[in-house]
Amino acid sequence: MKVTQIAAALIGLSVVAGATAAERKIKVTDRYLVVPVSHKFDRVDVRMMIPGQEYMPLKVRLPADGKAEYYAFRDMEQIKGKTITLVYPDGNLGGEAITTMPEIPQSDNIYKEPNRPQYHFTTRCGWINDPNGLIYHDGEYHLFYQHNPYERDWENMTWGHAVSPDLLHWTELPTAIHPDSLGTIFSGSTVIDRDNSSGFGSKKNPAMVAFYTIDSPAKQTQAMAYSLDRGRTFKKYQGNPIIDTHEKWQSHDTRDPKVFRYGDHWVMAVNERDGHSIYTSENLRDWTFRSHTTGFWECPELFELAVDGNPDKTKWVMYGASGTYMLGDFDGYEFKSSSGKHRYTGGSIYAAQTFNNIPASDGRRIQIGWGRISHPGMNFNGMMLLPTELSLRTTKDGIRLISNPVREVESLCTSIGKWSNLSQEEANNVMRPYSDRDRLRIKATLMLSHATDASLSLDGQRIVDYDMNNTTLNGYHYSPQDPTSMELTADIFIDRTSVEVFIDGGLFSYSFGRDFAGRRGQPFEFRGNRLTVTSLELMDVASVWDRQ
Ligand code: FRU
Repeated sequence: MKVTQIAAALIGLSVVAGATAAERKIKVTDRYLVVPVSHKFDRVDVRMMIPGQEYMPLKVRLPADGKAEYYAFRDMEQIKGKTITLVYPDGNLGGEAITTMPEIPQSDNIYKEPNRPQYHFTTRCGWINDPNGLIYHDGEYHLFYQHNPYERDWENMTWGHAVSPDLLHWTELPTAIHPDSLGTIFSGSTVIDRDNSSGFGSKKNPAMVAFYTIDSPAKQTQAMAYSLDRGRTFKKYQGNPIIDTHEKWQSHDTRDPKVFRYGDHWVMAVNERDGHSIYTSENLRDWTFRSHTTGFWECPELFELAVDGNPDKTKWVMYGASGTYMLGDFDGYEFKSSSGKHRYTGGSIYAAQTFNNIPASDGRRIQIGWGRISHPGMNFNGMMLLPTELSLRTTKDGIRLISNPVREVESLCTSIGKWSNLSQEEANNVMRPYSDRDRLRIKATLMLSHATDASLSLDGQRIVDYDMNNTTLNGYHYSPQDPTSMELTADIFIDRTSVEVFIDGGLFSYSFGRDFAGRRGQPFEFRGNRLTVTSLELMDVASVWDRQ
């Protein structure tokens, strides 16, 4: 439906105004609740009361003058036929304009917007941050995520939901878990309870159980909800919260439960004040504290990986939200670090999580990270970076975590051309015509002739910025495996608003948003002290939205 049709759709709504708050009842006959937004106004409380459901006031930038910048929406399919009550500040024209519609506003334009990333997941509207509850189940990859459906900035945390058959083509589904009277829904994970240890499902139809943090001004606690219909609807557990430790830690910061199966019990890694705690459970309901590893902040991960692909030699990886990790051993109760802290990735990535329940026949450890990247002029904010496969490799510096795009990404890529042994000038001539492509993959090997610096830039932004003298790469310490090597390889993914770079076979990676403000129309440019581009391949990357 076009924005201009919205005014027409308003006719017929009854507005009951009180002294300070207006109350309106809406019978939900259409699929979408449409909420006007204007960033010129502060947030106001809007209560949306759905029969039989608890609610938490939403904080919404209603355009008090009635002039919406854009329209946010909530999918009401599951509430159809019910009468909801909306309460908002009296006289607020934006509040009066909240309505229901059969289609989302400007549905024709979705995924065709000028700054919509073309092969990265973004939400149709609103803000996203951390990936949550990543799980493979019944032929579908599930991507839940921190989502504010009501504007493009962080607030009103819910679990958004999308599914994909291949980790690339995502279909956004209705919000999976909404805030309630206990608080908003922060990050967490999901498991499939195959043996029905929780009693929520059955062995025939095992429950998908979601663990999340309830955030309230008073405290953060851990909670769960379960789904018996492949994540389409969740029922919150009556006994929530299941873990409440804010007194113990004298901290508001206890959050982001990551649950997985270890042998005959369940394990939860959860960030509490200064590091990651381990809890265990037999039934997913009752949890016992076991150990704590200091030195990590937010979004715990803990998983086992084969070293150099050898299943008889494994290490456990523990990480937090920032892209740093420790290696060690884990006996199901305690993680014992046997390494220092290392960084495998940097830049825009944050709060990366790995999938649970990947079939043993596949056996990969697949990760998705949040890209802290905005898209100028768009009604949506943030993105998911490319899914990557994690592995452990023995290097000269010890065992290190490697991250490379999953092989499915190859299916989007078509070679444009391959070149070898190009001088800097020749490489620039080859690259120049592709400078305004908004989907491009560049595989390049740079050979330095002096131990100084070498770079590849676009629009004045350094995509690769290697300083051999200082041993830095785009601001991070980076030394190739052969420190005397004058060579560096880069696998670069350019999308409309982002750049992702994988160095030397995934030994280090980073990402960043493209600089729209600073664009000077400068083409690709290799620069250095007589650089050779020993190999170069350019590839087209298909849009994942074309078939939507
Ligand atoms: C990390 C984080 C998590 C929290 C969530 C809230 O980005 O701060 O710790 O659960 O975001 O949106």
